[in-house]
Amino acid sequence: MQIIAHRGASGDYPENTLLAIEQAVLQGADAVEIDVFAVDGELIVIHDHHLARTTNGSGSIYQHSLAQLQQLDAGRGQRIPTLWQVLQLLAPTTLWLNIELKGDNTVAPLLSLLKRAERELQFDVNRLLISSFNHHLLAALKQQQPALKLGALTASLAIDYAAFARQLNAYSVNCDVSFINQAFVADAKARGLKVYVYTVDQADDIARMAEYGVDGIFSNYPARSRQQLAAQ
Ligand code: G3P
Ligand code: CA
Repeated sequence: MQIIAHRGASGDYPENTLLAIEQAVLQGADAVEIDVFAVDGELIVIHDHHLARTTNGSGSIYQHSLAQLQQLDAGRGQRIPTLWQVLQLLAPTTLWLNIELKGDNTVAPLLSLLKRAERELQFDVNRLLISSFNHHLLAALKQQQPALKLGALTASLAIDYAAFARQLNAYSVNCDVSFINQAFVADAKARGLKVYVYTVDQADDIARMAEYGVDGIFSNYPARSRQQLAAQ
């Protein structure tokens, strides 16, 4: 079972910052998950479009220019990173990267950035998993770059995840720990989907996910989760 650092090692470091991602690498995570929006055509790494929770700014990211956003403090003096900076950081490592698309205008900038990453960083796009709760974005991506691995995010059993996963030819279903059960995992795996579960930080949940045979868990504490997994 793989450990995916959720927003970087965000339990101990400011989420979605280069510091949190560096720490995820140091803590031995298999992968990193980040959230992205597009501002001025540039993909930035942040979870909320409101700035107040994670930065010293206020209002919406869309009320600011990229230059203004990059002057904000995202915790411990960290800046809001660009996706390009994250790709540069991870390129020399063996970790894979899950990019969660939050903003509606992210598809075109992502496609052009990935071309640049392949060309300038030799970044293998097979190391990427692109996910979103907005399945229209994933469908648009798939149409333009069919080889990309897609993660269909689903937060509830009320959604017919199998239908959209099939429609997208998704690589994985990424689902909330609060509703997942053994039958769901078995069904998804029988459909050839990887199963990644968020957010799993408690020892009893880690044990339960291992028992279900999920492929990976999103953890805010990658080193601690790894230890808890090993101790079982
Ligand atoms: O990608 C898994 C998880 O991060 C989705 O929920 O709200 O933490 O972005 P959220
Ligand atoms: Ca996320």
